[in-house]
Amino acid sequence: MRVGLGVTGGIAAYKAAELLRLLQDRGLDVQVVMSAGARNFVTPLTFAALSGHKVISQVFGEGEQEPNVESAIEHIAVAQAIDALVIAPATANVIAKIAHGIADDFLTTLVLATKAPIIIAPAMNVDMWENAATQRNVEVLRTRGFKVIEPEEGYLACGMTGAGRLASVNTIAQAVFETLQVRDDLKGETILVTAGPTEEALDPVRYLTNRSSGKMGYALAEASQRRGAKVLLVSGPTRLQAPSGISVEFVRTTAEMAEAVFRHVDQATVVLMAAAVVDFAPTKVQTEKIKKQGGLLTVTLKPTLDILAEVARRRKPHQIIVGFAAETGQVLENAAAKLREKQLDLTVANDVTQPGAGFDSDTNIVTLVFPDGRTKPFEKMSKLDVAHLILNAVVELRSKLTPAVRE
Ligand SMILES: Cc1cc2nc3c(=O)[nH]c(=O)nc-3n(C[C@H](O)[C@H](O)[C@H](O)COP(=O)(O)O)c2cc1C
Repeated sequence: MRVGLGVTGGIAAYKAAELLRLLQDRGLDVQVVMSAGARNFVTPLTFAALSGHKVISQVFGEGEQEPNVESAIEHIAVAQAIDALVIAPATANVIAKIAHGIADDFLTTLVLATKAPIIIAPAMNVDMWENAATQRNVEVLRTRGFKVIEPEEGYLACGMTGAGRLASVNTIAQAVFETLQVRDDLKGETILVTAGPTEEALDPVRYLTNRSSGKMGYALAEASQRRGAKVLLVSGPTRLQAPSGISVEFVRTTAEMAEAVFRHVDQATVVLMAAAVVDFAPTKVQTEKIKKQGGLLTVTLKPTLDILAEVARRRKPHQIIVGFAAETGQVLENAAAKLREKQLDLTVANDVTQPGAGFDSDTNIVTLVFPDGRTKPFEKMSKLDVAHLILNAVVELRSKLTPAVRE
């Protein structure tokens, strides 16, 4: 997830560096945007070094540099890429500009262009804060749906005492986490997630695989991280970008996935097996490419190792193990059978023939199947929302373990 961090020209600009760190600690990728005023207080180099991204200030390219096509539309690209924008500290000046729809630098243009939620943390001298113009402008922003984090009372850098001091960076970070549903109810958990398909070679150029895109597993990894868990992601080949801040181990074959899973599983308190492991592999891998001229080709397949069953067999009492059942018929019956046979704590069932569900789709339609026979069906929703529902169930299951077992 990407957050825009707007920094404007006040004494508290240096505190934005600490805020950036707090956001990064929870796996958020931060793009810093500075006003020209802010550059008098902190150098862009500080934010560039901490965030790993160049800092943006100008709409028309930086300094002498000619704007290229990419930078010419950068405000739109950033506007679309961010999931939230937080401006901290926000000067009286930037608040006034935003309230009036002025877009005369990158930050204020971004505010107009983005559909992401915006959080503003004002900081200024008490008289500037109490000025009727500032109060009116802040009210305008509130009515437009901006979240305003009130400045705190106290001793101000100008030597006066009163309201105007930037709210604590923890309070501001919490507001961002709330907006993005970043929680800490999985803090202390180590979650092992598998994602994507596996591949089984037929000859040096061909292999068997399936339609899994890895999107569900990656969403689970991202959601787990946002909720405070340490995440280990074992991924088959996918076209997805690795979620930032998560350690990913890439594998290709079922045996490689099994080896990686077994290496990590003992550390895990929760195992989410969302990978679509290829169930069959050719009994013999040809060392030479099979020629077409041979006519009809018969390939004998053998079942691959059932990684989920093996993980369940070796399970520790404190572990919650979740399996996925992507089915094309008798979905709930098959999911319940999988849960029973493998002694899982939860199965996530979905009918991959339904539009908006299953492989390569950004959405999913799932039913959670519990060992006590309960089933919870859900409407179509994004895979990230599905991931949060699954994690809610995991939190519930973990809370039912006795403290002695849970530890
Ligand atoms: C030393 C110093 C400290 C300042 N601190 C603040 C401040 O905390 N809050 C504020 O609204 N303006 C403050 N200002 C005034 C702003 O820097 C000024 O209004 C500027 O135009 C803001 O530009 P910007 O909003 O584009 O960053 C300060 C100015 C100076 C010289």
